Amino acid sequence: MEDAVLPDGDELSAAGLRLEVDGEVARIALARPERRNAMTGRTWRALAHVGQALPESVRIVVLSGDGPSFSAGIDLAMFSPEGVPGERTLMADVGEAPEQRAALDAGIAAYQEGFTWLRRPDIVSVAAVQGHAIGAGFQLALSCDLRVLADDAKLCMKEPALGLVPDLSGTKPLVDIVGLPRAMELCLTARTVQADEAERLRLAELVVPGDELATTVDDLVAALAAVPRDAASATKELLQGAPGRTLDEQCAAERTAQADRLISMAAQMGG
Ligand code: ACO
Repeated sequence: MEDAVLPDGDELSAAGLRLEVDGEVARIALARPERRNAMTGRTWRALAHVGQALPESVRIVVLSGDGPSFSAGIDLAMFSPEGVPGERTLMADVGEAPEQRAALDAGIAAYQEGFTWLRRPDIVSVAAVQGHAIGAGFQLALSCDLRVLADDAKLCMKEPALGLVPDLSGTKPLVDIVGLPRAMELCLTARTVQADEAERLRLAELVVPGDELATTVDDLVAALAAVPRDAASATKELLQGAPGRTLDEQCAAERTAQADRLISMAAQMGG
């Protein structure tokens, strides 16, 4: 198989992203602070491209946003008849005809790919969130394994207030984290959750003063990197599977995973 090639500078800048890969750690920044890191279809396609092309060395991915807000969500120009320069408007060709529905389905699926890879067992993803994380911005934070919030963070699932549903993979982690009634309350009121409440709702692993966000994330990255990689990914996979299994099934999954670990350790000792 040909080695995948990461997005180049032009693709990243058109997508409003920056990317730095340094050994085990990839850092992706939303880099349109003058638009509060509003995201377009290009942003999500480029994120998917990053996920597909990440070097095997990478085991930790940090997502952050430049400027005062993590992300103001979808670029609202995507809904305008003119759309975003260089992109088709979301409203183009929307219709009931089966081919139109299929095209829309495929288009949204492509956007979702920009989010879902962040759950892969071979990486741990961390969102560093300051200021607003609205709509697609909140869903991007939710698509990461862990969230570190600055104390000025404000989370809002705004889609229903705009006549839409959240469709960038965020509903599943939201329900998993806060439970169904609270997820309904948050989405169906589209209210804003401040950092202290986010911590109580387990939407944040850590909340820190804004000027400590970067160093706190660095410390977390260092702690994650200190655990052996294969054990970390096997454990992540085990934990991810737990909610869908019975206790007996989970015990069996633990035995299988442990046998794999022990076989690998024995092979290393023997070799
Ligand atoms: N799309 C396009 N442009 C945006 C967006 C957006 N989502 N959010 C902010 N901007 C632009 C503003 O229009 C403004 O542009 P201007 O300088 O040309 O006037 C600039 O970014 C700065 O925005 P301000 O509103 O001045 O920044 P402030 O820090 O005061 O407020 C906030 C930030 C709260 C995020 C506000 O901009 C906002 O409410 N944005 C819209 C949020 C939204 O509804 N997103 C869609 C959610 S649904 C979804 O994502 C699917």
